[in-house]
Amino acid sequence: MTTPQKDSIAVLNQHCQQLGTLHLKQLFEEDSLRFQKFSLETAGLMLDYSKNHILEQTLTYLIYHAKTVRLSTQIEALFSGECVNETEERPALHTALRNQGNQHIFINGMNITKAVAQTLTKMEHWVTRLQTKQWLGYSQKPITDVVHIGIGGSHLGPLMATQALQPHPQAPACHFVASVDATEITHLLTRLNPETTLFIIASKTFSTQETLLTADRAKNWLLKSARDADISSQFVATTANTEKAMEYGIAPKHVLPFWDWVGGRYSIWSAIGLPVAIQTGMDTFRALLAGAYAMDQHFRSAPLNVNMPVILALLGFWNIRFLKANVHAVLPYDYRLRSFPRYLQQLDMESNGKSTQINGNPADGTTAPIIFGEIGTNGQHSFHQLLFQGTHFIPCDFIATLDSEQPGEKDVLLSHCLAQSRGLMLGKSIFEIENNLLERGYSAKQADLLAKHKNISGNQPSNTILISKLTPQTLGALIALYEHKIFVQGVLWNINSFDQWGVELGKEIAKDLLTNLENRSIPKQYDSSTRGLLDYIYRSWKNK
Ligand code: F6P
Repeated sequence: MTTPQKDSIAVLNQHCQQLGTLHLKQLFEEDSLRFQKFSLETAGLMLDYSKNHILEQTLTYLIYHAKTVRLSTQIEALFSGECVNETEERPALHTALRNQGNQHIFINGMNITKAVAQTLTKMEHWVTRLQTKQWLGYSQKPITDVVHIGIGGSHLGPLMATQALQPHPQAPACHFVASVDATEITHLLTRLNPETTLFIIASKTFSTQETLLTADRAKNWLLKSARDADISSQFVATTANTEKAMEYGIAPKHVLPFWDWVGGRYSIWSAIGLPVAIQTGMDTFRALLAGAYAMDQHFRSAPLNVNMPVILALLGFWNIRFLKANVHAVLPYDYRLRSFPRYLQQLDMESNGKSTQINGNPADGTTAPIIFGEIGTNGQHSFHQLLFQGTHFIPCDFIATLDSEQPGEKDVLLSHCLAQSRGLMLGKSIFEIENNLLERGYSAKQADLLAKHKNISGNQPSNTILISKLTPQTLGALIALYEHKIFVQGVLWNINSFDQWGVELGKEIAKDLLTNLENRSIPKQYDSSTRGLLDYIYRSWKNK
């Protein structure tokens, strides 16, 4: 039995065959208006998606497919707090955290708009106390350093945003610790003063082993020079589990709450964003929220064919489902966005790294791609060789900002960003290379062989996002753009983008292995690899 979805997939498959081996170079030669046709602007971002294997007809078919999966209805369901996270029976209301409109949203009778506003007010109060040196440590000295302890969505968002935005002149120094490897926090604490250091324990569940172990290490460090009763003002928690935070010993007044309807990887807009507000100022944090809201409004209202998150999602769907991409590169050409690829790795791969549809059926083809990336031009001296001459088909997102402190300061960076995108699309003709070698005196045989090694086939697609100025607003819009792109792809793949059951198995196995390591045991029922590895570890430790 066929369905509209299957029919539209069949049409897209046929269209893909028809496009066949058309080279991107040819598409540009045949249509000088591709940039005008395949670019759009919103919320301070300009997207050029003309270097994709698409015609206007391609987009028409893709948008028709989006309509067969009721995309617009699903978008409204997201914003209105429907239970889009079906396996955890929750909404996914990260958009409510940045809602600037006057309409209130209720969940189970709770006015969450009011609760969000109250949390922002409490956050602002904390930020003001820190910036005005009113927050004192156990010896009554003002806090000078804030250590943020969290992992995954309780780490990557705040880290990325504090790196991307200007620090506030009165801000204390902020430091981020995520690794459960004691080296990270130990090395940091050797540089800090226990009298003037505040710790933020950031954990939605307040039960993440790594975060709590690192928090214990921080507490033990403080207790070397202070009494337990005196350090409560140097620990705060940002969490959706206030009860567990209080059990841990955090005073209720030192808990900044958020809620289970905020996914961890979508939580930068919540209390988890506290270090962003501390480091850059509350006005900046509110501007970040406003930028995301601007993208929300665009996403919610723009027709699908000029809807930036939808276009990015459909292009990814086209590259993955029809052109068989398995990998996607994110290449920011701005040092301030150096953690943006890592942030997107969790946001995309933990959201859509799924192989089961919402209805329980196996996924119908490849879902989330492997996301990787590095800032330019650093990546050009690392893995861009593979992009140009490797055996993989890797669509790229280039992200560049146009603001600089000195005129002309960005010229080299931008020249490379545009050159990489153009070079990946054009390639370099083997005949051109061979003729050049012959002209330089190479023999026919040498020129033939060397040209094959120097050949660059090109035809690699890319998107380029230009940001006129990296501000809290445009950063907020950029993050929300990718959040919504990922949501749309989840709808296209009919998967739940908001749960993450896959991370549980490793945690379960690690519990048993921790016991084994602590008592130096090697259970017979383990596989020979794990047994062999444990044995090697114990022998190495014995020889110490
Ligand atoms: O990786 C699993 C995960 O639950 C992420 O989704 C989350 O961001 C991270 O661990 C940290 O969780 P928590 O904020 O509850 O400590």
